[in-house]
Amino acid sequence: MSSGPVLRAMGLRKVYGDFVAVDRVDLEIGRGEIVGLLGPNGAGKTTTISMMVGLVPPTSGDLVVEGRSVRRDPVWVRSRVGLVPDSPGFYDGMTAWENLWITARLNGVRDESRIQDAISRVGLSGWEDVAVGKFSKGMKQRLGIADALLKSPSVLLLDEPTAGLDPGGSDEVLRLIRSLADGEGMAVLMSSHLLHQVEWVCDRVAVMDRGRVIAQGTLDQLVGRRYYVEMELDGDVNAAARALLPVGKVKVEDRRIVVEAGEDVRRKAVDTVLRAGAVPVEVRMRRAGLAEVYRNLLEAGS
Ligand SMILES: Nc1ncnc2c1ncn2[C@@H]1O[C@H](COP(=O)(O)OP(=O)(O)O)[C@@H](O)[C@H]1O
Ligand SMILES: [Mg+2]
Repeated sequence: MSSGPVLRAMGLRKVYGDFVAVDRVDLEIGRGEIVGLLGPNGAGKTTTISMMVGLVPPTSGDLVVEGRSVRRDPVWVRSRVGLVPDSPGFYDGMTAWENLWITARLNGVRDESRIQDAISRVGLSGWEDVAVGKFSKGMKQRLGIADALLKSPSVLLLDEPTAGLDPGGSDEVLRLIRSLADGEGMAVLMSSHLLHQVEWVCDRVAVMDRGRVIAQGTLDQLVGRRYYVEMELDGDVNAAARALLPVGKVKVEDRRIVVEAGEDVRRKAVDTVLRAGAVPVEVRMRRAGLAEVYRNLLEAGS
């Protein structure tokens, strides 16, 4: 296999009538890498994932998996990309093994030992003969991952894999996803609107809004060096705010001023405020998290 990205989306676009659901998405996923696809409802995450797995034909653009284009080798690309849909559909009355057996048949997987193998890879050994109706949501989600692994894909796409799970179930699923990337070199894309989960498990993040990827990079690249100095002031808050304009981006909330800058400007901010005749009674500094960056991005786009 080449050393390039396992999956590469180039200008993927989907138009319904005159509505652009996904607008020229460029995205790469490398071996062993987990990319988080973040965005509010309606951003185009599910449509993007559906195009990557061949469920929805792109209006334009291309998808290349391990160097082969979906336009030329659609069947092959589909065989290399595993999908865990947002709600995996299983027959509740049938056992885990029986459910996977159906998928194996549909995918032309003849070797039945692969079913047991997939079940053990997601940590469900011992549960193969239990009816799926008895599974917790977290276990069902893990079985959904086993289902996607049956065809031995090199890319795993997960659409909101922790939706509806309690924190314990989410942790289990995210740890499993991480171990598939670390242990087996799986290239993973997972969509989510839950920032802290993406922050915890993903190597890179692409933020989508209204069909477009509005930012993409490692967490460090996205969060960058943003520092926030918060001050509670006595005295003329407005005069202090004006004086602070050269120090950073200033926001006034009641008697509180927040200065955003590319470095820690605590000392400079306090000096400036004092010179403007106000007194900082409380000073705090914090660095931006992904939540802040995400909010800023979405605000800037609207
Ligand atoms: N088959 C379809 N026909 C028309 N519009 C669609 C279709 N599928 C999705 N959309 C629209 O495309 C946009 C993106 O949807 P989706 O990809 O499901 O977003 P997300 O998964 O980020 O919530 C939404 O506005 C949705 O209503
Ligand atoms: Mg969706």
